Amino acid sequence: MKIAPSILSADFAALADDIARVEAGGADQLHVDVMDGRFVPNLTVGPVVVEAIRKRTRLPLDVHLMIVEPERYVGDFVSAGADLVTVHAEAGPHLQRSLAQIRDLGARAGVALNPATPPSVLQYVLDDLDLVLVMSVNPGFGGQKLIPSALGKIREVRTMLGARPAEVSVDGGVKVEHVSTLVAHGAGTLVAGSAIFGAPDPAAVIARMREAAGT
Ligand code: DX5
Ligand code: ZN
Repeated sequence: MKIAPSILSADFAALADDIARVEAGGADQLHVDVMDGRFVPNLTVGPVVVEAIRKRTRLPLDVHLMIVEPERYVGDFVSAGADLVTVHAEAGPHLQRSLAQIRDLGARAGVALNPATPPSVLQYVLDDLDLVLVMSVNPGFGGQKLIPSALGKIREVRTMLGARPAEVSVDGGVKVEHVSTLVAHGAGTLVAGSAIFGAPDPAAVIARMREAAGT
């Protein structure tokens, strides 16, 4: 089981310190939420910030693009140092093209599914992806409550992927109390923002998540 702290809930004025804290605490990768004010009703960061973070951590950077027309920016994010780029299935009509573009640039390719999006949209891109990000909240904000229908979706996606090495990740409202259930349903990566960075000791939360997962 991998833990990916989402920097959305970190202190952006002391980002390097917050990142160092979770890196020392055993995080597996860093989740960077990119929002454009169009696909989701919020704005966050772009490639400039990814590039700055790249210089301060050895952790893989998992960049979650909540933006329309992601193909226009994929190259910039990979050049900035993204190891994994995830696009939303709902963000455009050419999902396969975006995934191929990410892989051609040398990064790993992910697809995110909003809570209302059925896993069937993945049927013809199963061999084009390295990760499926099951959204357990409607994207746009940290600190929301996990929507329980994500559990069944995680299981369904895991079954669809079969023996492929692709990962299933879950994003939104993840807290220590959900970890064992999420893992039992097939989640291999847990993204958590407020549960980790909102706590006085983020490293302790990561340790408790690992213990809850039994890994
Ligand atoms: C939501 C983002 C999430 C968010 C998770 O739009 O995609 O990555 O940071 O934050 P929490 O864990 O607080 O729900
Ligand atoms: Zn995210």
